[in-house]
Amino acid sequence: MLIPLILSGGSGTRLWPISRRNLPKQFLSLAGKETLFQQTVRRAATLADVTDPIVVASDDQRFLAAEQLQELGITRASILLEPVARNTAPAIAAGALEALRRDKDALILVLPADHLIGDDQAFTDAVARARPLAEQGWLVTFGIRPDRAETGFGYIRRGANLGGDTFQVSQFVEKPNPEIAARYVASGEYDWNSGMFLFRASRYLEELGQYAPAMLSAAEAAFARANTDLDFIRLEGDAFAAAPSDSIDYAVMEKTSRAAVVPVSCEWSDIGSWDALWLAAEKDANGNHLEGDVIALDTRNSLIRSHDRHLVATIGLEDVVVVTTPDATLVARRDASQDVKKIVEHLKAAG
Ligand code: GDD
Ligand code: MG
Repeated sequence: MLIPLILSGGSGTRLWPISRRNLPKQFLSLAGKETLFQQTVRRAATLADVTDPIVVASDDQRFLAAEQLQELGITRASILLEPVARNTAPAIAAGALEALRRDKDALILVLPADHLIGDDQAFTDAVARARPLAEQGWLVTFGIRPDRAETGFGYIRRGANLGGDTFQVSQFVEKPNPEIAARYVASGEYDWNSGMFLFRASRYLEELGQYAPAMLSAAEAAFARANTDLDFIRLEGDAFAAAPSDSIDYAVMEKTSRAAVVPVSCEWSDIGSWDALWLAAEKDANGNHLEGDVIALDTRNSLIRSHDRHLVATIGLEDVVVVTTPDATLVARRDASQDVKKIVEHLKAAG
C-alpha cells in the first residue's frame, strides 16, 4: 500500500505579505486555481495503488487543511495535528506511525505541500521507478538536476548504480555554503534533493531510532496518547514538544547509509520566495509576471501583484518585487527575496 504523507506545517514567511501565520503559502492559490496543497494532494491521488493521504499540519491550520481536502472530494484522509512545530523529522515520524497503524508494510511518499511540478507524468514515472527500491528497504530521494548554486537545498551525490536510472547516495549534504554548492554544481556529480521521499514507514522509524532516538520516542509517545477529535488526530502536546526539532535531511538523510536517488526530469520548483515564484511563473515579453490591476511602464524582470483592484503603477524599474495586500505592501529587490523573512521576524519582535 502506498500512502502519500503530505507535510503542510511550514509557515512560508518569505512570501509575506501574502503568506501569513493564519494562511501560509501552501494553502494559497499562488500558481493556478488550486492551492499548492491541493495540487500536491491531487497529484498524489493519481498514482497507482495509492490510498487516502496522511496530512501532517499545524493545529492552527486544521480547518484550512480539512476544507481544502473536502473541496477535492477527499473525505478519508488522516489529518495529524502538531501542537508545536518540531520540523520535518518528527512530523514524518508521526505520519509513519499512522501509516503503520493502517498497514505494517506501508510505503510512504513524503511530499512537501509547497512545490510546483510542471510535468505530472515525469513525477508518476519517478515514483514507479522508486517503488521497488523502497520495497527493498532503501530510503529513496528524488534528484533534480541543478541549474544554479542554490544554498537552500540539499545536495545528493550519485554513487553505485542500483539498476536502470537509479543510484545509491554516496553523500547527502543539506544546505551547503555558497562555495561548496558552486563546487558541487560544477562537478556534475550532484543532484538537488527535491524534498520528496519514498520509503517503508517501518524503515524510516528504524533509522530515526538509530540516529535520533529521543525524537523517535517523543513521536511514539505523542502518537500513542493522541486524541481523536472530529476528523483530526491531535498529537499529545507535552510529548511532542519534547521532541528535538530537526529536519529529516539533517536528522536522517545525511547520516543513513541506506539512501538511494531516483533522478526526476520535470519542471520543479520549491516556491520558497518571491524570486522562486517569479522564476517559475509565466512572464510577458518584458520578463514581468503581473497580477491584478498593474501598469508596468519601462519595467523589466519583475513580479508585481496588486490586490483587490488597488492599482499599482511602476516606471523605470528592473528586478523588483511589489506585492500589495489590504494592510501591507512589500517593495523589494528580487535578489533580496530570501530576506523577506526578516520583516516577519521584525514584526514578531515588535509584537
Ligand atoms: N507538518 C510539518 N511540520 N511540516 C513542516 C514542518 C513542521 O514542523 N516544517 C516544515 N514543514 C513542511 C513545509 O511546509 C514544506 O512543505 C516541507 O515540510 C519542507 O520544509 P521546508 O522548510 O520548506 O524545507 P526546505 O525547503 O528548507 O528544505 C527541504 O526541501 C528542499 C527542496 O525544496 C530539504 O528537504 C532540502 O534538502 C530540499 O532540497
Ligand atoms: Mg521548502
